[in-house]
Amino acid sequence: MTNLQKLQQALREREIAAVLLSNIANVQWVSGFSGSSAWVLATPADAVFLTDSRYTVQAKTEVKDMPSDSYASPVLSAQFLARHIEGRGIRLLGFESDSVTVSTLKEWEAAFQGVQLTPVAELVGPLRMVKSAEEIEGIRKACALADQCFDNVRRILRPGVSELEVAIEIEFFFRKRGATAAFPVIAASGENSAKPHGTATEKVIEEGDFLTLDFGACLNGFNSDITRTVVIGEPSTRQREVYGQVLQAQLASLEAMKPGIPAKEVDAVARRVLAEADLAGYFGHGLGHGLGMLVHDFGRLAPTSEHVLAPGQVWTVEPGVYIEGFGGVRIEDDVVVTESGIETLTHSPKDLLTFPEGR
Ligand code: GLY
Ligand code: MN
Repeated sequence: MTNLQKLQQALREREIAAVLLSNIANVQWVSGFSGSSAWVLATPADAVFLTDSRYTVQAKTEVKDMPSDSYASPVLSAQFLARHIEGRGIRLLGFESDSVTVSTLKEWEAAFQGVQLTPVAELVGPLRMVKSAEEIEGIRKACALADQCFDNVRRILRPGVSELEVAIEIEFFFRKRGATAAFPVIAASGENSAKPHGTATEKVIEEGDFLTLDFGACLNGFNSDITRTVVIGEPSTRQREVYGQVLQAQLASLEAMKPGIPAKEVDAVARRVLAEADLAGYFGHGLGHGLGMLVHDFGRLAPTSEHVLAPGQVWTVEPGVYIEGFGGVRIEDDVVVTESGIETLTHSPKDLLTFPEGR
């Protein structure tokens, strides 16, 4: 079944007469288009890809399974969309309420005559959660590149190197290999490592610091997302304890993952292990998220998540402990759910590494 057919089946099941997709990741998934701005107008029986003149030529080669049309200045996007919507006699039109802004909605309401706009949530996201073999292969390659990158950056980890230098080394590695950093590299050392999203600063890495590196490759449109925490110099007893417990939490959650298990139960496994060492209170975020065309793709491993694990889903698994004034540890891997369990896609070592190596 094509992705468009999957969408149209969902429209039939949810009795949605027509939808205007505007979330670009969803548009890309349904149409094959790789540009940055477009819509798909779909009914259970029909679909059209709509974009602007910057992408007219690109759409001809990329867009599959549906005709395409584009507009050029001085026509406005809302006028162009209105022509297609009204031309098909659509009276009731779903819009993606989890991504359309209030101002866009107002613009559409003013432009689409005789059309009732109705919010539709979580239409394409759940379909995208189960990845095709091709998508998994794309993610696998992005994961392999992240592993190679970690292997490369280890060479430069020592006291005196700044967080920014480490981050740039990571970015440069990806750029030289036809990829980009999937998101701004997190290189957080010492007390900065207690900030879960501490992007790299000019701070110099010092003896005794935890160093958390969280990065990923975006390669051919697919992402990876890996975190490793290391120690510069000799780890303290407390650092070993905290690291060991986060690692146990991650290994136990990975062990629990298989089809049919609720996402919140996987999250709970990590929290239980951290609670054994009174560390659960320092774990403020969810255990993981979907991964694919987006770094934070649809789906959450979290206490309130209603997802159930199924083959083909790709997840990050990233417990963390962040203690203000002391530092933090996060360990993150990417996995794909298989028929019987999971396959881990990132393979960088997880025993507590200390740097510089071999001294
Ligand atoms: N790896 C950090 C995050 O997903 O936000
Ligand atoms: Mn992540």
